[in-house]
Amino acid sequence: MKVTVSRKAHFNAAHRLYRKDWSFEKNDETFGKCNNPNFHGHNYELIASVTGEIDPETGYVIDMKVLKDIIKNEVEDAFDHKNLNLEVPEFKDLNPTAENIVVVIYNKMKSKLASNLELEITLYETLRNFVSYSGN
Ligand code: NI
Repeated sequence: MKVTVSRKAHFNAAHRLYRKDWSFEKNDETFGKCNNPNFHGHNYELIASVTGEIDPETGYVIDMKVLKDIIKNEVEDAFDHKNLNLEVPEFKDLNPTAENIVVVIYNKMKSKLASNLELEITLYETLRNFVSYSGN
């Protein structure tokens, strides 16, 4: 029997979508307003879901305090109020689309979880646009 526990989190960050190896025109055609050289911001919302067996001793799948600390260390401290392109090393050469951000978050958090736990990350870039990744 497996149970999923989830925690919501939030961070603000700026980004610009573009490829260094493309011309401005090609970037503009592909990424539109998101290619603004002066960057723009989003209020990102995140749901981290951890799935596993209930520990018979504690009754927990994962201690929420542990999950909260992993989110704080790996996501909030790393991304909140940052310029993703300029200040977050993972995006130095990786376009910070919602798709790429969710994979980076998944990989950072998964490495901190016990290996028997499954993880799914859902990342909202706007209220209506969201992406999810669970390692597949
Ligand atoms: Ni954007």
